[in-house]
Amino acid sequence: MKLDIVILAAGRGTRMNSNIPKVLHQLGGDSMLGHVLSAAGELNSNSIHIVVGYGADQIKDELSAREDLHWALQEQQLGTGHAVMQAMPGIDTKDPENRVLVLYGDVPLTNASTLLELVQGGNSDTLSILTLVTDKPAGLGRIVRDNSGAITAVVEEKDASEEQKQIKEINTGIMAIPAAKLSSWLDSLGNNNAQGEYYLTDVAAMAAADEDCGISAMVIHDVNEVQGVNDKAQLAGLERQFQMNKAEQLLQAGVLLRDPTRIDIRGDIETGSDVEIDINALFEGNVRLGNGVKIGANVVIKDSTIADNANILPGTNIDGAEIGEGASVGPYARIRPGTVLKENTKIGNFVETKNAIIGKGSKASHLAYIGDAVLGENVNIGAGTIFCNYDGVNKHKTVLGNNVFVGSNSVLVAPLILADNTFVAAGSSINSDVPADSLAVARTKQRNISGWKRPTKK
Ligand code: UD1
Ligand code: MG
Repeated sequence: MKLDIVILAAGRGTRMNSNIPKVLHQLGGDSMLGHVLSAAGELNSNSIHIVVGYGADQIKDELSAREDLHWALQEQQLGTGHAVMQAMPGIDTKDPENRVLVLYGDVPLTNASTLLELVQGGNSDTLSILTLVTDKPAGLGRIVRDNSGAITAVVEEKDASEEQKQIKEINTGIMAIPAAKLSSWLDSLGNNNAQGEYYLTDVAAMAAADEDCGISAMVIHDVNEVQGVNDKAQLAGLERQFQMNKAEQLLQAGVLLRDPTRIDIRGDIETGSDVEIDINALFEGNVRLGNGVKIGANVVIKDSTIADNANILPGTNIDGAEIGEGASVGPYARIRPGTVLKENTKIGNFVETKNAIIGKGSKASHLAYIGDAVLGENVNIGAGTIFCNYDGVNKHKTVLGNNVFVGSNSVLVAPLILADNTFVAAGSSINSDVPADSLAVARTKQRNISGWKRPTKK
């Protein structure tokens, strides 16, 4: 099987009511075009060509890391046939084995397995077309068949006779076409039709009339796989569908979802056994949840690993972190990039951490900021403790040994080292190192003024 892939993405997508090119709109954490490229990438093709027009530079920028992609510019959108013509110079039309698979950049949820089945369902001299039977064929190209059931043409709605409009089998737009034939068919394509466009679909009738070429259709049953996006409502509809599929996969893998309609996965999630996920959890990027992990309601986790039996309590936000075995985080904790919580740590409510390694069994149970720090084992950070890591210009580091106890409402001014077993008195402002086994008190001495009178209203 030899294949070149052409993805059509030149259209503006006026009905999206947006300045962003249609194919760059996001679905499940990737652009629509990104999804199409993922499926295309699984097909082992010679090359992938993307036809761009509206927002071409923006689309190319977005995919600038992909050096394997070929770009074709369609300056004016004169139809799908005209779009494919722009990519033809890069296509191998000499090799009689080669075929061109046409995909749309705004049809994001087609499975690679479906495309493979379509392509493998025909020989190198077959035009293979993916069709759908639907009760709502309005606006779409109809598949016209003769009495024997053979496809004779695809007719666009605006060019269809009343009789043809009754046809319920429609063209999804996805087709694989013998490359050499396509090249000559495109040369003879006209635009004498209701829309004055060069229709790619006209090649179906040319294939039907060509004795050296066959046509075969594969009828797909899952409408979502071929659903195009023209407006935000359709995008939202497919997003839901995508999320339901993801939820279904998790349920099948044994994850307990309190409500499969209230979970969002924008990326890849890996789960161990007996994971429980409460409502409204959002996972972004690459997330790994170990065995027995519990995720509370309204938790957001991005690019992080949560080890076995960790418990993430409601309202917590975790980004770019490693959460150790048996750790407890939240409710309402904010765990920022570079945080490593070792096993059995406890981070409680309204605690923010950033670039901080927190040793085994250490705790910060309430209201604290821990940034640019390394904490040993069994450290206790009192409520209201602030790690002053920033002098207004540079960031500095704070290092705490094992068994350090920091009393409530203390300020630790970095750079700073508190050695093992240090005890910091509550309300201290610590700005020089403390040796091991010492108490550090850094606050003004309390005075009691007896008989003091409160101010009175003037
Ligand atoms: C097309 C098909 C129709 C099919 C329908 C499925 C043709 C003539 N008709 O119709 O049979 O049922 O898709 O959704 O092919 N594009 C370009 N350049 C252009 C025109 C379009 O790149 O000049 C791209 C669009 O960005 C889009 C895709 O091609 O990704 C389809 O274009 P669209 O205008 O939606 O085609 P339809 O008229 O809906
Ligand atoms: Mg369309």
